[in-house]
Amino acid sequence: MNYIPNPQRYKGMTYNRVGRSGLFLPAISLGLWHNFGQDDDQVIARQLICGAFDAGITHFDLANNYGPPPGSAEENFGRILSSDLSAHRDELVVSTKAGYYMWPGPYGDFGSRKYLISSLDQSLKRLRLDYVDIFYHHRPDPETPMEETMMALDQVVRQGKALYVGLSSYSAEQTREAEAILRKLGTPCLIHQPKYSMFDRWVEDGLLDTLEELGIGCITFSSLAQGVLTDRYLKGIPSGSRASKPSGFLKPEELTSKVMEQVSKLNVLASERGQTLAQMALAWVMKDHRISSVIVGASSLEQLENNLESLKMPQFTSDELGQINKILNQ
Ligand SMILES: NC(=O)c1ccc[n+]([C@@H]2O[C@H](COP(=O)([O-])OP(=O)(O)OC[C@H]3O[C@@H](n4cnc5c(N)ncnc54)[C@H](OP(=O)(O)O)[C@@H]3O)[C@@H](O)[C@H]2O)c1
Repeated sequence: MNYIPNPQRYKGMTYNRVGRSGLFLPAISLGLWHNFGQDDDQVIARQLICGAFDAGITHFDLANNYGPPPGSAEENFGRILSSDLSAHRDELVVSTKAGYYMWPGPYGDFGSRKYLISSLDQSLKRLRLDYVDIFYHHRPDPETPMEETMMALDQVVRQGKALYVGLSSYSAEQTREAEAILRKLGTPCLIHQPKYSMFDRWVEDGLLDTLEELGIGCITFSSLAQGVLTDRYLKGIPSGSRASKPSGFLKPEELTSKVMEQVSKLNVLASERGQTLAQMALAWVMKDHRISSVIVGASSLEQLENNLESLKMPQFTSDELGQINKILNQ
């Protein structure tokens, strides 16, 4: 059936300016790391993408290696985009990345110019796009000179294959170095994509201050700790959940009794606030004004819709924040 987008889609979403750039991103973006691969249900994948757009989510985050197999999330997204959303390309911000292992041999990993340029060319074919809006270097490369990686990012912008560039999982110090090179080249660094959740607060230790100082936006990933900071695992590991799958990205042994005790306590606090744990976990990340957007993953439209409700209750009292810190420090 032909998809007709919700005409009210821009009414309920908050859009945040990304750093000191001209670009705005929705407070919640959709990530396609899991649930959009070759063996995933394509009916649900389409429901998620169209449902997200209907709710004002204009930003979809991908990477060359998302699947499995690597590349299949871009292929599936490209197919749904061309069948349902091609008339709305200018309302969308599509990102992809290169930096992790993608193909055999010395040219399919890390941060060489050779890898980044050819990877983006491959991504554009799979996505059926002429350009992506944001191209990221997915992780720092300890061997390649930073100049070479940044020159490749600058080049794809000059070629019109990406409108903006970003960095993922760079430390504060590496971000400072990369930003200075990019600025000199004339392509500002738009955004940084770090992991940030109640369980992983490394960005508070200098990265967020650095991003604010440099005028770079921040879009977080795994802010639900891959589903642990939701009610998903409160009664064990359900079949079909990420922890039940063989990918190994969320291992059952990570759900220790200590972690689950914290999750149970956070869940009680969330319900006292009148929201789900997922909603509280997202609101907690978004409360920092330096966060431009939170990328959420979802395996159903119901999960995504539940997560969007977090926008309705963004405030925390200092007592609630104290209680959260107490639970996390135990
Ligand atoms: N730059 C990087 O290196 C990097 C790394 C990782 C991720 N990312 C990006 O960030 C995105 C999000 O990462 P993530 O998938 O780890 O994020 P996440 O949002 O922490 O976890 C998503 C998972 O949580 C569960 N979930 C979501 N909403 C729920 C709800 N309301 N109730 C119960 N369970 C819920 C689902 O698990 P089930 O599947 O079990 O239902 C879902 O797949 C990725 O898609 C990707 O775009 C980037």
